[in-house]
Amino acid sequence: MSRVYNFCSGPAALPEAVLKKAQAEMLDWHGVGVSVMEMSHRSEEFMSILASAKARLARLLDINDDYEIVFAQGGASTLFSQIPANFMKGYDTACYLDTGAWSTKAIKEGKKYGKVQMAGSSKEQGYTSVPDFSSLNLDESAAYLHLCPNETIGGLEFADLPETSLPIIADLSSTILSRKIDVSKYGMIYAGAQKNVGPAGVVICIIRKDLLARSDDSLPAVWNFANLVANDSMINTPPTFAIYLADLVFEWLEAQGGVDAMEAINIRKAEALYEFIDASAFYSNPIDPAYRSRMNVPFILADDSLDAVFIKESEAAGLRTLAGHRSVGGMRASIYNAMPMEGILALIDFMRDFESRYAK
Ligand SMILES: Cc1ncc(COP(=O)(O)O)c(C=O)c1O
Repeated sequence: MSRVYNFCSGPAALPEAVLKKAQAEMLDWHGVGVSVMEMSHRSEEFMSILASAKARLARLLDINDDYEIVFAQGGASTLFSQIPANFMKGYDTACYLDTGAWSTKAIKEGKKYGKVQMAGSSKEQGYTSVPDFSSLNLDESAAYLHLCPNETIGGLEFADLPETSLPIIADLSSTILSRKIDVSKYGMIYAGAQKNVGPAGVVICIIRKDLLARSDDSLPAVWNFANLVANDSMINTPPTFAIYLADLVFEWLEAQGGVDAMEAINIRKAEALYEFIDASAFYSNPIDPAYRSRMNVPFILADDSLDAVFIKESEAAGLRTLAGHRSVGGMRASIYNAMPMEGILALIDFMRDFESRYAK
């Protein structure tokens, strides 16, 4: 079986060069005679991998000394609780922006720790757009403003941030490293690895140092951000293999020319697919063109009775996991950094051919 184009939203496709390198190093990492999975997390070798991953990420995102990098566990969903548990201490309220399914899940968890003030919501527009930032309902004395700049399920993305004095905490799970960002505009960034960074099991956290003073000793030790920083992500055994793979992905990204180069490719990939969808009467995408995601492209067929046939035939054509999220149906092509332009062109060719055979 040869490799196919994998459009899974996560765990997602990884660069083939990274998988090959991991394969080559699997039995014997750098001559030490064991794999990364088998070495102590406190060994000199693993500590060098951790340090390399942090240094590469800092270079790729231009992270300055005001920030700490933590590799957390439990998936981004754990962070939905861990963030209010750490940062709402001493505050009644946190502001949340609601732009789709993942913001909604974060809001649900936030409510367990204090008052959630809805800064704005595009729920009434079916999450096809982003609330107007000039009329957000912000409480400038709140703990933070949480937002999700790329809604993986809805396929909605925004690049600009609201003007506020609040620390902005952003779930970048499905967009980190796909486009240039100004880290200094954020209080905290977090991202589950399994889309643009590596295998599931590790969550990248970039935390502004001043916020760490809010994490107090009443928190579970493994949830306490200040404690995680003080112990360099090693209060307990970290997901060593996932961190190693992340380091290899960061190395690959550097070799591609970094985030700027990836962003240029990602723009071309997304434009090609959206242009094709817009030109067709058979496929459609419901999102406001100003906020269409470059990473997750949902589309529906004019006749949904053809959905199952589309999935079956696309899989047979070597285009894997194009079904939309179970909550919304339709199709979704997740086209993260590791998806080459060739994969987009193969998808467009298939979609064109499918349309010519099935459109009435
Ligand atoms: C934007 C976003 N946030 C959070 C999550 C949850 O991640 P996890 O499954 O790692 O908890 C996902 C998963 O797809 C996501 O896309």
